[in-house]
Amino acid sequence: MSAALAPKSRTFMNTGLPLFSDLPHKVASLDADLVRFGHKEVELALHEMPGLVALQEEYAGQKPLAGARIMGSLHMTIQTAVLIDTLIALGAEVQWVSCNIFSTQDHAAAHTADNGVRVFAWKGETLEEYWWCTLQALTMWKDGGAPNLILDDGGDATMLVHIGRELELAGELPDPTKAGSEEEAVVLQCLLDVRETRGNEFWTQFAPNLRGVSEETTTGVHRLQQRADAGTLLFPAINVNDSVTKSKFDNVYGCRHSLVDAIMRATDFLISGKRTLVCGFGDVGKGSVQSLRGQQAKVSVTEIDPICALQASMQGLDVITIEDALPTFDMYVTATGNKGIITAKHMVGMKHNAIVCNIGHFDNEIDMAGLEEMRGLGEVEKIDIKPQVAEWRFKNTTHGPGGRGHSVIILAEGRLVNLGCATGHPSLVMSASFTNQVLAQIELHQNADSYENKVTVLPKVLDEKVAHLHLQKFGAKLTVLSEEQASYIDVDVAGPYKPTNYRY
Ligand code: NAD
Ligand code: ADE
Repeated sequence: MSAALAPKSRTFMNTGLPLFSDLPHKVASLDADLVRFGHKEVELALHEMPGLVALQEEYAGQKPLAGARIMGSLHMTIQTAVLIDTLIALGAEVQWVSCNIFSTQDHAAAHTADNGVRVFAWKGETLEEYWWCTLQALTMWKDGGAPNLILDDGGDATMLVHIGRELELAGELPDPTKAGSEEEAVVLQCLLDVRETRGNEFWTQFAPNLRGVSEETTTGVHRLQQRADAGTLLFPAINVNDSVTKSKFDNVYGCRHSLVDAIMRATDFLISGKRTLVCGFGDVGKGSVQSLRGQQAKVSVTEIDPICALQASMQGLDVITIEDALPTFDMYVTATGNKGIITAKHMVGMKHNAIVCNIGHFDNEIDMAGLEEMRGLGEVEKIDIKPQVAEWRFKNTTHGPGGRGHSVIILAEGRLVNLGCATGHPSLVMSASFTNQVLAQIELHQNADSYENKVTVLPKVLDEKVAHLHLQKFGAKLTVLSEEQASYIDVDVAGPYKPTNYRY
């Protein structure tokens, strides 16, 4: 069956929303003040997003994305609103969801919906609402058609299509009772409802419409690479994360800005002088450490990789294990992209009112499921302080005030703290990331057929172009190579200036 707007069917789980909805958008509010705020902030952001403005100017009147139907699953922030506006200015049709239940800025969603875009996103979605939103933006296109490109952050939209199709081809019914997590149960329920209302070939017929995906983040790229290695990736993927002007800027300098912003907005605790553990010293960990050190926190790190551990040591950081930190540390930040980094047992051993947060993509770096299990057993109580800030009070420990139970303060329920408790990276940083995204979408739209179903990065010449587009904003003046110098170091005067494996 086509993905055409369907007659109203059953509602999805506890959302009260039709499984397939013909709503033009679903956002928190289109109140005039909120819409105005969104439009004004986009106007301000534009001035800080020279890469996207340059692409709009370069392609004015050319519409290189005409015919592209892009389903976006990426934090619905003000910066993303500028990305969406740019994709549309270049000719694309766009439908959007956020890739995180807490990251939507409601005024950004209001701006986008007010511009007539089918956007399904609001701050504080439930998991059921989140997957409902993803299903709508993927499948419910105004004219009954389907998207031909995905712009993903973390891989959820890409995963839904792949798993839906795989279960159909295997002749297996999605079974939420076999899920390994609460979220997986919602995904499987969503697929089960689709199966029961749309039959056995919905995703099998849907997937061939898709010609490619561009992926924003480390964790999403990892998921794509696993599929490519297993030979199960259904379309070509462009790895935007590993453009140098993305991961060496957004992941590092973006987190340098947005980590302490989030901790301060959430808690107002003094960061200076506090013993803080950053788990993972990759790109995000490096930015996080800079962020905390900028406030004069006493930072240590954990690592599994001897090279990253050596880098940390050379920067004067103690490389320790989490067990070393437990009795004395005031703050913990996970940045590994791995799971089970801070367990419920670790939190039992933490100091009273230690702050625990995560800046990696998913919610399993901190063992929220383990804490919930303890809550079910009556061993810990959750006390909401304000949205995205909760005290978890352990009832059976004795190192809290007056020898009673101690608490830990968990931010954004273990999900991306910088987007849950603050507004993510600033516009100028996101401009570089999103300029890569637009270039990747143009490349896929125009040339997807010449790619294999593998994961590739954009050529270095485009990476350098993205950097060029942002230099003027800083008043930077490049030195121009002479022909003689260029030939001496064996590069072209116009670049690229480094071999592809150069590490920056
Ligand atoms: P990365 O691979 O550069 O760094 C991760 C580091 O964690 C690596 O050095 C790895 O050795 C280390 N690590 C893995 N398991 C560990 C463990 N058990 N204990 C200690 N260290 C461990 O990845 P990255 O680009 O820094 O991304 C990290 C996460 O942040 C990913 O999930 C990514 O998607 C996400 N991300 C978030 C934002 C944001 O705005 N919050 C921005 C970019 C990326
Ligand atoms: N990732 C980190 N910061 C972001 C932002 N401001 N907008 C979209 N994605 C982001």
